[in-house]
Amino acid sequence: MAKPTFYITTPIYYPSDKLHIGHTYCTVATDAIARYKRLIGCDVMFLTGTDEHGQKIEEKAKEAGVTPKQFVDRIVTGEGGILDLWKLMNISNDRFVRTTDDYHVLSVQRIFKKMYENGDIYKGAYKGKYCTPCESFWTESQLVDGKCPDCGRPVHDAEEEAYFFRLSKYAKPVQELLETGTFLEPASRVNEMINNFIKPGLEDLCVSRTSFTWGIPVDFDPGHVVYVWVDALSNYITAMGYLNDTYHDYEHYWPAHHIVGKEIVRFHSIIWPAMLMSLGEPLPKKVYGHGWLVIDGGKMSKSKGNVVDPYLLAEKFGVDALRFFLLRTFPFGSDGNFSNELLIGTINSDLANAFGNLVSRTTAMVEKYFGGTLPAEREAGEFDEDLRQLQVETVKKYQTQMEAFQLHLALDEVFKLIGRANKYIDETAPWILAKDENKKTRLATVLYNLLEAIRTSLILLTPFMPETCEKAFAQIGADETARGWETAGCYGVLPLQVSVRKGETLFPRIDMAKMLDELEKAGKKPEAEPAKPVLPDVTIDQFAACDMRVVKILKCEAVKKSEKLLRFELDDGSGTPRQILSGIHKFYEPEQLVGKKVLAILNLPPRKMMGLDSNGMLLSAVKESTDQEGKKKEELHLMIVSDDVPVGAQLC
Ligand code: MSP
Repeated sequence: MAKPTFYITTPIYYPSDKLHIGHTYCTVATDAIARYKRLIGCDVMFLTGTDEHGQKIEEKAKEAGVTPKQFVDRIVTGEGGILDLWKLMNISNDRFVRTTDDYHVLSVQRIFKKMYENGDIYKGAYKGKYCTPCESFWTESQLVDGKCPDCGRPVHDAEEEAYFFRLSKYAKPVQELLETGTFLEPASRVNEMINNFIKPGLEDLCVSRTSFTWGIPVDFDPGHVVYVWVDALSNYITAMGYLNDTYHDYEHYWPAHHIVGKEIVRFHSIIWPAMLMSLGEPLPKKVYGHGWLVIDGGKMSKSKGNVVDPYLLAEKFGVDALRFFLLRTFPFGSDGNFSNELLIGTINSDLANAFGNLVSRTTAMVEKYFGGTLPAEREAGEFDEDLRQLQVETVKKYQTQMEAFQLHLALDEVFKLIGRANKYIDETAPWILAKDENKKTRLATVLYNLLEAIRTSLILLTPFMPETCEKAFAQIGADETARGWETAGCYGVLPLQVSVRKGETLFPRIDMAKMLDELEKAGKKPEAEPAKPVLPDVTIDQFAACDMRVVKILKCEAVKKSEKLLRFELDDGSGTPRQILSGIHKFYEPEQLVGKKVLAILNLPPRKMMGLDSNGMLLSAVKESTDQEGKKKEELHLMIVSDDVPVGAQLC
């Protein structure tokens, strides 16, 4: 029989900055649901990706002196970028969509055209307040004291030609969809959408822009780019092959379950279904709006300087402990106050004490009393049935909660079972049974029952802590056949003469005070380096002996097999191109530099690097800093000179 399909998505993230713990929270939650669905036997498609167009990215790239594509590439695929973060967090996405991918661009153009051709997109005029220096439109309510909120200068009434989507036409069917009560969850968000957006009247939506270019061009009207939310929301179907030939899974997987943060529920539960209605396509199965992780009650933001770095936490506590903490602590639909104390406290109480201890005590006793392998004989006793019953119930309750995306409640159930198993140890007191030769069979039964309870717990914890569960399964002697969903809650799945392997401590206890101190140090902004003392004097003749000139970069390429080196061909004014190698690839891409004029010293003795001659040295300013771990870092900035300065001009 074909497996049931299950398609789940995260929002596609803006690559305008490094992602923080809030983004990680959303992706980890979606990952746990995807892993759970695979575990119970579904054919899962898990999609995540990046939302790469728009004015903000265009501006940030400009500030950084690179093209928008270079800018997003660095954040998405560069070292320590978004792909690296998901790899680190053990995210099991099946596909990754970037809105700059060709197939997506093509599909979005077709989607836009389809809505235009069926009369749902029309050309009109966008009216607003315009700030000429910023080239930006604002609405009345965005203005600050009647002035531009960005630069504070006066604005004037203006209008520009734009396309509009007939969102108003879909108000009624969207309201009906919201009122089904199953489409948007948690239920509180339904009223919010209806009262705040539908009831006041849905206005048609402006879906094209002409004030910037970093977007998907409207192919039948160049000069207009598609509104970034129309572009972004479409990812959920373009990445399955809707209106393109790159993928062919649209019929198979669509419709999806969308996991999104509460601030973008409006786009997903009003605009997105209206777009799909216009396209005549099936509507999403569900939109789930989760809460925010906040700090001291406020949202994390770069400007407030309170963003929490997932890399740092994963390094200090381990990926599984971090994943677990995020999903165990905060009710998925509500906001949660993040703190390091809470994180350490949860790891200590749930993972080191309750869970880790149960595994290590049980395996240690099997080793101590039976040399690691249990004998086959059994003798039932008091408390056994109670423990066994709870396993069966736990699996059922867990499943109900997981199906409702109530991840924290699903984990509550598992921890009730873990707590019950720990209590069973106290009740049966294996150390007393061990003293009596006649009670060896009973002792073996107690330990076997514990191993079975652990085995069930591990199956249920796998979507949350995949790596740890794998290790723990090996420790309790559970092979592949004893790890499957169908065996959760069953009894007698482990071999009667099961052998355990006591391994590493799964979660060592953390010293709260010491760790808080470490985190504080690591999180502190590196202090400004003291200025270096000026070097001893040189004579003017010594200075003049250095032949430093303006050179123009004719060619620049990466040196094969070298991470650092770039090879430059330079016009130094002599008529013959000069070759210089420079170890600055970490800071510049070759295409950024061609055509630029820079400073070089030409009369250093030639040097060979990676088999190539370097005849001189490009001059750079060095920015020294100390990173979070206290390691010294150097950043090189080439001395780029104005284009008016002639090639060959000497420094004097
Ligand atoms: N690009 C849009 C989404 C387009 S989806 C078609 C976007 N990107 S985002 O990078 O700004 O944020 C995306 C998501 O990150 C939020 O919806 C939310 O799920 C998550 N979070 C960002 N900050 C968060 C917290 N502080 N806490 C929890 N989740 C947070 O919006």
